[in-house]
Amino acid sequence: MQIDIFTLFPQWFDWLREQRHVANVLAAGSRIECVDFRPHTPLSGGQVDDTPFGGGAGMVLRVDVLDAALRARYGVDPVELRERRRVIALAPGGRLLDESLVAELSREPELTLLCGRYEGFDERILEHFASDVVSIGRYVLSGGEPAAMVICDAVARKLPGALGDERSAEEESFSEALGGNPEYPHYTRPAEYRGWKVPEVLLSGHHERIESWRRERSRERGAAQEQGGGAG
Ligand code: 6GU
Repeated sequence: MQIDIFTLFPQWFDWLREQRHVANVLAAGSRIECVDFRPHTPLSGGQVDDTPFGGGAGMVLRVDVLDAALRARYGVDPVELRERRRVIALAPGGRLLDESLVAELSREPELTLLCGRYEGFDERILEHFASDVVSIGRYVLSGGEPAAMVICDAVARKLPGALGDERSAEEESFSEALGGNPEYPHYTRPAEYRGWKVPEVLLSGHHERIESWRRERSRERGAAQEQGGGAG
């Protein structure tokens, strides 16, 4: 998988590349590359954004800057580019990222992530250059970079070789193995701490009972989450 990230802060992603599961997939041949779009601005003084037409606070990322940056990277008109690969603009109002979208993205050979800053993108970027607009939640970040990192982290977990133990991805939260429910609770030593005991069944060595206890807890958590709660 090749992930290209268009950002004004390419160095932020150095940290991401060092995270173990990300480093593992990079070592296995995947790539995460950043494209700084500031050098592509047609404006003097390195300007990439401008004040909104109609007035209002903040600055808006310019469509001509993104056009130039995408064209320089891929050598085609960005309007055609999105027919060939997912070009994902990161914006708070987009499609909410969830485990099934992560799985869908992890099957793509190539992804392009566009990080906006300030008040966001000129709408024509979303309309004409992006194949998708994705959000990581209903709150506003000052830029798309943390969202791009979230996507890379979650997608990398799905790629072969990311996790030392392949089973750890199979039964994790929201997986098919758990019927889309969150994962069951985990415990480790000590079996008792300050009077808080690990559930007896987990110490029993009885695999079927453990299995059914876990499924049940996972289902319970799924039901609690639907009612707006949440755990694990
Ligand atoms: Cl993808 N971008 C920004 N700027 N804010 C967000 C977001 C994305 N997702 C949630 N909030």
